[in-house]
Amino acid sequence: MKKNPIIIGIESSCDETAVSIIKCNNILSNVIIHQNIHKNYGGVVPELAAKMHEKNLSIAVEKSFLLANIKKTQLDAVSFTIGPGLIASLLVGCSFSKSLALGLNIPIITVDHIKAHILVHFIKNANINNCEPQFPFLALVISGGHTQIIQVNDYFNMKILGSTLDNAVGEVLDKIAIKFGFNYPGGSTIDMFSKYGNSQKFKFPIPSVKDLNFSFSGIKSYINKFVDCRSINNPLFIKKNIFDLCASIQKLITNILLNKMNMAVMKTNICRIVLAGGVSANNMIRNEFISFCKKNKWELFIPKKKLSTDNGAMIAINGLFKYREKIFDSINVSPYSKFRKF
Ligand code: KG4
Ligand code: ZN
Repeated sequence: MKKNPIIIGIESSCDETAVSIIKCNNILSNVIIHQNIHKNYGGVVPELAAKMHEKNLSIAVEKSFLLANIKKTQLDAVSFTIGPGLIASLLVGCSFSKSLALGLNIPIITVDHIKAHILVHFIKNANINNCEPQFPFLALVISGGHTQIIQVNDYFNMKILGSTLDNAVGEVLDKIAIKFGFNYPGGSTIDMFSKYGNSQKFKFPIPSVKDLNFSFSGIKSYINKFVDCRSINNPLFIKKNIFDLCASIQKLITNILLNKMNMAVMKTNICRIVLAGGVSANNMIRNEFISFCKKNKWELFIPKKKLSTDNGAMIAINGLFKYREKIFDSINVSPYSKFRKF
């Protein structure tokens, strides 16, 4: 085993084709090709996503080697996302990774997408604190596909404390954004518009969900009905109130997340919170978590924005931890689309 291995991370679980090369925990290159084609459909079209990965993956890989300034023969392992995600998209990354590893006669390492979002914090300078979180910590994974609270005891020992019972938080933001006429994925547009809005203007009810679980589908329906109702007498309702609507929705989501994380800390006595996943790029969520944790004297780790959303570096760092333990996979491993218990 090399002390400072060079590992490539390949991510193709949804609509970003992302490739990164790391040496130990340093990023040498981090290439992300966004698939803008889905904007035309208001959501990710699985067949198109797979087709775009097929087209873009070799380009992203070549670019990664160029930027990292290393030769393919210098690689020590190929890590890639094995699930959860869109099966056809995962298959593209999986087959490509196997071929690359076979051609170079190096091990393949499969990585779970959710664990990858969490362990991205172990990339050098990955978060705004510029330091790694100590174990144990509570991870709040908020993305387009997942919403979970996970107790992380070490790189390989994670326990799910709570999950969404229906939609993921990012999925709901993206659906509401479509209703408001924004392009897919609209989470970041809601974030942008919120800056100019009053988050107290519209008070939406917080759903009551047991334990550390979440439910967001009711919020989606409630807001749809709310704007439809208001638009009957005032067809310009959305347009005239767009900033306040965005800010108020974000406030609701932020409050739900803060409440649940507060409960999780009380339950576990672990006062160290780690945010992960695309929605953790949201400015209100970041700022309110910073204030809340400061007030309670809890430690908080927030990924830099480029490492919040899907990227190859988070796959590669998980690859590194498995490489060090010699946890390699067989060539006939196959992807899974649904969330698997840790
Ligand atoms: O982690 P990610 O890139 O992919 C999944 O694993 O799903 O997360 C994508 C999600 C999308 O729902 C997107 O709208 C949301 O992250 N997102 C944001 C922001 N940036 C990305 N949501 C709110 N505010 C943002 N700034
Ligand atoms: Zn993700």
